[in-house]
Amino acid sequence: MEHVHIFDTTLRDGEQSPGASMSLSQKLEIAVQLETLGVDIIEAGFPISSPHQFDACKKISETIQQSTIAALARAVEKDIDTAYEAIKKAKNPRIHTFIGTSPIHMKYKLNKTEAEVLEGITHSVTYARNLVPEVEFSAEDATRTDREFLCRAVDTAVKAGATIINIPDTVGYTVPSEYIDIITMLKERVPGLDNTIISTHCHDDLGLAVANSLSGIEAGARQVEVTINGIGERAGNTALEEVVMSLYVRKDTLKKSTNIRTQYLYPTSRLLSSIIGFPIARNKAIVGENAFAHEAGIHQDGMLKHRETYEIMTPKTVGRSDSKIVLGRHSGRHGLKHRLEQLEIKIADEKFEVLYENFTQLADKKKEIFDEDIYSLLSTSVGADAAMFELESLDLTIKTGSLAVASVSVKSQSEIHKGTATGDGPVDAALRAIEEALAIRSKLVDFDIQSITPGKNSVGEVSVVIALEDKHSAGRGSSTDIVEASAIAYLNAISHSMLLS
Ligand code: KIV
Ligand code: ZN
Repeated sequence: MEHVHIFDTTLRDGEQSPGASMSLSQKLEIAVQLETLGVDIIEAGFPISSPHQFDACKKISETIQQSTIAALARAVEKDIDTAYEAIKKAKNPRIHTFIGTSPIHMKYKLNKTEAEVLEGITHSVTYARNLVPEVEFSAEDATRTDREFLCRAVDTAVKAGATIINIPDTVGYTVPSEYIDIITMLKERVPGLDNTIISTHCHDDLGLAVANSLSGIEAGARQVEVTINGIGERAGNTALEEVVMSLYVRKDTLKKSTNIRTQYLYPTSRLLSSIIGFPIARNKAIVGENAFAHEAGIHQDGMLKHRETYEIMTPKTVGRSDSKIVLGRHSGRHGLKHRLEQLEIKIADEKFEVLYENFTQLADKKKEIFDEDIYSLLSTSVGADAAMFELESLDLTIKTGSLAVASVSVKSQSEIHKGTATGDGPVDAALRAIEEALAIRSKLVDFDIQSITPGKNSVGEVSVVIALEDKHSAGRGSSTDIVEASAIAYLNAISHSMLLS
């Protein structure tokens, strides 16, 4: 079977989704997890775009040993120099340089002629090749580029020494048959392409990113650019877990292999979701809550008789457990540790202590602790950076026909902040009381609540996105009390926003 390289751009294109920005330590945590997952190339960021991006690329380059580290650069010297400075310590550094090649990009964005764009490609690729042995060239908006010109652009990049040629569907416009045509044409018409790796990079504006990426592979691409949970600009990028599992489950027909350790797919998806505070849609393939649930009686009956009647892969293959009820009040430290081992979750000792404390509090409130509860506890207690603000207490008065009243006490490193407010319902009152306590005004951009386990005493997980001084940040909180979960999520989003500033 031929090998397909997995290029993960969660930390670069993925982070470009509004509200998905991560702190330095969060990026490092994701990068380490991506390496454990078996990703071949990690695109760590766009170093010229900010000092934070530069520092993240540098730190990741100094830490990661197995995966190649790529950094993005426009086709200009100062971007390439900065990218090189950021990743030069990586064991395997790669500079990824790009320029728009479609008429729309050349005319309106770059204000350049075709000749000027070709000159930019020659210069930037040659310049980057003098710094590192691996240079990737992307013809931005390739799928809306005139085909003649695309051939010339790719030929120019190959002649200048590019080792990987990426054909991005920047605006998620192409369809599988067209993407096959484009890549086949390039292979036929650009002779030197035989000695380079062709790459796909698809956006999901029409919901076709995974299908287009698979078509690209069918046409000869041997690198696929993806993000965890498909996060990214607008509708997102190709979801890593979907492409990888398509190649894995259908290796009979697709005949390709990857280096991904599939049992880390679900833990990685959960880790990212907890760090950026984006919930995963219940019906999301591979990692959604319902991806392995069988509701209809006829399906359940079939499953009990023979699993493969309705299941094309086992939950265990992607790192999800079969048995959902696992722990309770009496499980103790040992029981929790054992379950974490079974779920292949590794955490440092001090983080385990925080987790265990939260676990015992939850076990006092509900009898059965499900795996999903453990993931939720992980995300809210140890997955993210230590919160700057903690909810110490929350008092609520709710009466039908009257405004709700909330009083909160919030602990920061050195102080206790208190606030009281009324609101249109208990959640509104609690969030206003927090604003009062911290003397801030923020806008709630998004609010999502999910019950993560069955039963009336289920844990509610709240995800919020806020805008504080025009900066978006996300936070997550969980509790059997949904008002408390909302308050925790709100405080985490405020902490997150301050960590980013
Ligand atoms: O979508 C795109 O074209 C990109 C390039 C920078 C590769 O993200
Ligand atoms: Zn992109």
